[in-house]
Amino acid sequence: MKFTAAAALLVAPLAVLASAVPKVERKITYDGYKAYRIATHNNAKSVTDKLAPLAVVPFNQNTRDHVDVVIPPSEIAAFEALGFEAEVLHEDLGADIREEANSFAPYQEISAQAIPSDTWFDAYHAYADHITFFNDLQAAFPTYSEILNIGASVQGRQLFGIHIWGSGGKGSKPAIYFHGTVHAREWISSKVVEYLAYNFLTQYNDTAVKAIRDNYDIYILPFVNPDGFVYTQTSNRLWRKNRQTRSSSSCVGTDINRNWPYKWELSGGASTDPCDETYKGLAAGDTPENRALVSFTQSLSASKGIKLYIDWHSYGQYILIPYGYDCSKRATNHAKQLSLAQSTASKIAQSYGTKFTYGPSCSTLYATTGDSVDYMQDVAKAEYSWTIELRPTGSGGGGFVLPASQIRPSGVEQWEGIKYLLASV
Ligand code: ARG
Ligand code: ZN
Repeated sequence: MKFTAAAALLVAPLAVLASAVPKVERKITYDGYKAYRIATHNNAKSVTDKLAPLAVVPFNQNTRDHVDVVIPPSEIAAFEALGFEAEVLHEDLGADIREEANSFAPYQEISAQAIPSDTWFDAYHAYADHITFFNDLQAAFPTYSEILNIGASVQGRQLFGIHIWGSGGKGSKPAIYFHGTVHAREWISSKVVEYLAYNFLTQYNDTAVKAIRDNYDIYILPFVNPDGFVYTQTSNRLWRKNRQTRSSSSCVGTDINRNWPYKWELSGGASTDPCDETYKGLAAGDTPENRALVSFTQSLSASKGIKLYIDWHSYGQYILIPYGYDCSKRATNHAKQLSLAQSTASKIAQSYGTKFTYGPSCSTLYATTGDSVDYMQDVAKAEYSWTIELRPTGSGGGGFVLPASQIRPSGVEQWEGIKYLLASV
């Protein structure tokens, strides 16, 4: 890596804090675990009630249509005896995780000021390599970008990002604002926002890309939950939350996407149990990650405003518009958001035929309170505030563990969608 000032800033706090990070427990292999999609036919509760006695690992869901679960080997017979209408997502989750681990590639060192090789998008990578990749990418375009450090995670990792601009100069235009990896296991989200950042920077000579760069300031935070992401690489590939401990519980982690200080207090869209995957915390905004994100968001909102916010997740292939907290509430510009979501979905499908379902997040997927999209829409006053759930759909196999061969096509189809969207807003 090249030692720019920004790179040094990024790395130094990590080194200082490394000794404060607790030792990780043995890695869960998930060998012999199976993942299933269970049809719910609008009654998810009857499914989850039947599953309650089993040691099931929650995976993902769409309340109306399906619940996805992971079943340990010792429970598979009992699970099959329940006779659900189900399809297999992972025949052996452990084998798929091992294959993913085997597909890791080291970062290819480059000479000073060179652009990182785009073979980056053919493999998954270690967290430290992601930092190097961003530092090197930024260093290749020093007059049009800078590295952001907006605060620190529970374990002291920098919440880093990249700020990209065009002919108007730094900070002169409304913000296009992307978050990746709020949920640790959703690895494809960091790869896709990296792909977008790479193309925004390297394709400035393309007329359409130049127009976007000249009209907007682009802010991309690829890992808003770095501790969780590192934990998925060292200990548990299916970890979702941050790594915050609470004196009230031995369970670890708060869902950063249930901790935003807006509609946090409502019930039904998050859990108050620290052991649950959607634990909302003890108070609104009581995670260090959320506090840093709120203050950075407020600064964007107060300067040139936020044109478009996208929270990148996986999986399910959805484009979700407001709101999460109320299934019948609609944004004041709902018709415009919906028609843009629809046309963006058609644009995405033009690359490889990948189908994205679109609609308001609560009614299309499930209710969420204290989520970023509702905060961005109503508090930060973003004009458009979306969640995109990337590949796969789940039906036809796979979930959070997406083969490395699908990184590049995921990036390509989203790049086409984003160029279309930003030319249309
Ligand atoms: N899967 C994400 C989450 O659980 C996105 C939620 C989008 N909002 C919603 N109401 N479905 O945080
Ligand atoms: Zn998610």
